[in-house]
Amino acid sequence: MPIYLDHNATTPADPAVITAVATAMVESWGNPSTLYGTGKNARRILDASREKIAALIGADDPSGIIFTSGGTEGNNMVLFGARCSHPSHRMHLITSMAEHKAVLRPCRRLEEQGLDVTYLPVDHLGRVDPGAIRRALTPETRLVSIMFANNEVGTINPIAEISEICRTSGALFHTDAVQAVGKVPLDVKALGVDFLTLSAHKFHGPRGIGAVWIRQPGSGLAPLLHGGSQERGLRAGTENVAGAHGLGVAAEIAFQRIAADAPQMRILRDRLWERIRIEISGARVHGDMENGLPNVLNVSIPGWEAEELVFALEREGIEAGHGSACTTGQTTPSHVLLAMGIPPKEARASLRFSIGRGNTIEEIDKTADVLGRLSFR
Ligand SMILES: Cc1ncc(COP(=O)(O)O)c(C=O)c1O
Repeated sequence: MPIYLDHNATTPADPAVITAVATAMVESWGNPSTLYGTGKNARRILDASREKIAALIGADDPSGIIFTSGGTEGNNMVLFGARCSHPSHRMHLITSMAEHKAVLRPCRRLEEQGLDVTYLPVDHLGRVDPGAIRRALTPETRLVSIMFANNEVGTINPIAEISEICRTSGALFHTDAVQAVGKVPLDVKALGVDFLTLSAHKFHGPRGIGAVWIRQPGSGLAPLLHGGSQERGLRAGTENVAGAHGLGVAAEIAFQRIAADAPQMRILRDRLWERIRIEISGARVHGDMENGLPNVLNVSIPGWEAEELVFALEREGIEAGHGSACTTGQTTPSHVLLAMGIPPKEARASLRFSIGRGNTIEEIDKTADVLGRLSFR
């Protein structure tokens, strides 16, 4: 088995999640919209899962959880849904330059459709300045979308402060919390957000299932998919009951373990950085190590292109991520690192290690040993 250090890309499903999904497929295969026992059983599974997700994110009303196929759909649901509910109005949207493509690309598409979009810069840690949001708001700003935690560098944004600013000005506030849910404790009541996106496969649930939490179901969003009236009319189509059950079980496990897992991941992450810092001169860390996600270490290793290093690590049995996009042999540095003001050469040399529940000190030490050796090539 390789040493897997790319948990921000995806995580292995917890064995209890695998059992739950299989059991639901066998025992709860009914259509939750039907009125008889088989369907009612499936509906019970969905609703129990909503309750577990609500507990994880501090939501009082589980009916605000709308199941989706994952984070990409969730973000699209909110961004296009906010637009489609007011198709004839002029509309302004605010987001940041460091968002995931699952926010940036829908925003670009909305711009092509005539929407006015402001892409706010981020500081050297990757953080959005709430003051910049205040200054960018106009009477036409309908939606602000700022990620909770950055997928590449782990930096956490001041979400409660931003949502307060949005509330005062009457704009709706969405946060893409795909990388935060299950890794750090969060509470939608304290955060004051209107919409929150999450995705099961980032916290040991199945791929292809996620949810959007909506403060006031029925207000402010039009559906993306049209058909049946599932999920309060916001997401047509027969629900993925087994996936939703897996998501619920993953949420329950995360809820129970988060207080112990987060500090443990931080210990491993800090140890990895400490070893790299000592062994590789010129290595530089990117992002907010102090207040960011506890599991992410984004580092530039001088003299390497990240892709080369990913392959070199793979040959040594270690899997890590890189932020650059590689299209037809050309490497484009990560838009997040560039937005943080990191020079392109350094950005191209950046690797992302993201620690997970199963990682051990031995794996971290082996990774540091290998990196140290590779840096002397
Ligand atoms: C911040 C963020 N948002 C959205 C997504 C997309 O989630 P999914 O893979 O569930 O569509 C990801 C996935 O990497 C992510 O990191």
